Amino acid sequence: MDRNNVLNADFFRDYPRIDSGKGIYMYTEDGTEIIDGASGPVLVSLGHGIEEIADAMREQATKLAFAHRDDCVTPVLEKSCATFTDASDGYLYKTFQVAGGSEANEIAIKLVRNYHLVRGTESKYKILARWQSYHGSSMGVLALSGFTKRSLTWICLCNRSTWAMVLSAWMRAVLPKVRRNAP
Ligand SMILES: Cc1ncc(COP(=O)(O)O)c(C=O)c1O
Repeated sequence: MDRNNVLNADFFRDYPRIDSGKGIYMYTEDGTEIIDGASGPVLVSLGHGIEEIADAMREQATKLAFAHRDDCVTPVLEKSCATFTDASDGYLYKTFQVAGGSEANEIAIKLVRNYHLVRGTESKYKILARWQSYHGSSMGVLALSGFTKRSLTWICLCNRSTWAMVLSAWMRAVLPKVRRNAP
């Protein structure tokens, strides 16, 4: 297809067109094999093209498209949450399942806030984040991002008053050396 209506981050880059994948590899339409080193990123940790996963998804999708968590639970969600609880060695009791990293971090922030409200420590609302960190693309976690290249454009729209940025251990170790060597 000559037309490209996909809104990619870089308008001028010629992105490879990935047609399929197997294990750690992705394949373009002309059969070029590419190692998916970032696993999509970090989303396909079990690999591409796994029949068992496709079968389970098909079976579930034909049974029930979606059930909203405000109104109900499903046996598969209960089973999936129990898998994490069982694997946690008694550390986890409840599991909240999400669709990606941004959502996971947003929910974590909201849970912490709720925790303090319930405990009566509502004055605790500041979240520490590290410079150079990246926590996702939605507005809440962009405000938390210390990765300025990815967040600078939108920082004016984010409420930074809730966040406090701290140096990572790596930066604390490296910065004094950089300063010492500065002309
Ligand atoms: C550390 C970290 N947190 C959060 C995210 C955001 O995840 P998602 O793109 O699934 O929203 C990423 C994505 O690369 C990440 O590397």
